[in-house]
Amino acid sequence: MNSALTETQRLLALREQHIPRGIITAHPVVAARAEGAQLWDVDGKRYLDFVGGIGVLNVGHNHPKVVDAVRRQVGEISHASFQVAAYESYIEVAARLNTLIGGEEHYKSILFTSGAEAVENAIKIARSHTNRTAVISFRGGFHGRTLLGVTLTGMSQPYKQNFGPFPAEIYHATYPNPYRGISSDDALAELDELFATDVAPDRVAAILIEPVQGDGGFIAASSEFLQALRARCTQHGIVLILDEIQTGFGRTGTMFGFQHSGIKPDLVTVAKSLAGGMPLSGVVGRAEIMDAPTPGGLGGTYGGNAVACAAALAVLDLFKEQDLLAKGAKLSPQLHEGLLALQARYPRIGDVRGLGFMLAIEMVAADDKQSPDAALAQKVIDGARNAGLLVIKCGVHRNVVRFLAPLVTTPEQVAEALQMLDTALAAAC
Ligand SMILES: Cc1ncc(COP(=O)(O)O)c(C=O)c1O
Repeated sequence: MNSALTETQRLLALREQHIPRGIITAHPVVAARAEGAQLWDVDGKRYLDFVGGIGVLNVGHNHPKVVDAVRRQVGEISHASFQVAAYESYIEVAARLNTLIGGEEHYKSILFTSGAEAVENAIKIARSHTNRTAVISFRGGFHGRTLLGVTLTGMSQPYKQNFGPFPAEIYHATYPNPYRGISSDDALAELDELFATDVAPDRVAAILIEPVQGDGGFIAASSEFLQALRARCTQHGIVLILDEIQTGFGRTGTMFGFQHSGIKPDLVTVAKSLAGGMPLSGVVGRAEIMDAPTPGGLGGTYGGNAVACAAALAVLDLFKEQDLLAKGAKLSPQLHEGLLALQARYPRIGDVRGLGFMLAIEMVAADDKQSPDAALAQKVIDGARNAGLLVIKCGVHRNVVRFLAPLVTTPEQVAEALQMLDTALAAAC
């Protein structure tokens, strides 16, 4: 091995040799350790991490309370498989999720490992409850990389490639997109048209929607749109599933994104920031729907792993003890105003948008604000990394730069990140 190589170069060369290209690594960075909103690579370079493991670290990297909870749990029992022997942490996570989402109503929760697994199971539960097959999801939506997950996802490349045939009876409706001139009324009219032309509402088991599209470009559905979906689902006996995998646990300013609109979903999928870095996901929903599948129809060896459940309980405690929603509520205007100030100086930022501390900038062509510029977004992302800030892209056209900083980021770190972004924009634009 060439000793002139940095540790990063050495490991990335091994990565290329041993790991297929199908899984990308957004940055040529090899992480060594992290804390809060900061990450250090194997060569000692420090970054501000505004990706947070893709929205997983709302409580920040390695929060001491989460680390303690994990250590304690590993010392007691790390895996029993809930299908074999129940354990209290699983029951407690379920009970807390039921209260957080169901309030006074009777909700039940089942736990899994990944977001895609939660989505798959939400569809199984909805089909079982309704005895119907069709599912409507949205163009630009992202629901995971399993075969059903990519089928529900409303983006073709790179997710669908030549991976078909895809599961049947999945329909895609239009998601409102004010920046591109699609109002909530337009999207609703298209949904009604879909009911009239493609699939009658009494054949639809579920409508699946993100309250703010994540990978699709940080586009928030209006309250009116979500309320109208709620009304149509109630009218036709369709199960309304909110995918809160990226929007959940304080990201948008409320615990869950749907809470901005005053609606109550029938099922909610959760994952990512639920367990502060441990793999844990779940489906939370009305008890009578959740109980539709018969015993043995749901589960998985690792689902609701005891260590991940212990981490989740620590995360949920932290939201109360440290008032993380209030922390996020202070940070989001700072970041939002900072991004708007950058937009005023760099007109290639066509749009600044999002909800709460889930914010993004859309990079566009110089002569046409509707024309996406993915190459420019990539330049901004690379420049930000060189300046010490980790961010990633999103959007159907991959021209949107998204910010998913932990809620424990300090105001000084937000200011520092804006400076780094300014440097990147100055070089790229
Ligand atoms: C809204 C949403 N749903 C589902 C998923 C899939 O989650 P996972 O990658 O854990 O399978 C993601 C992941 O980014 C997501 O953002």
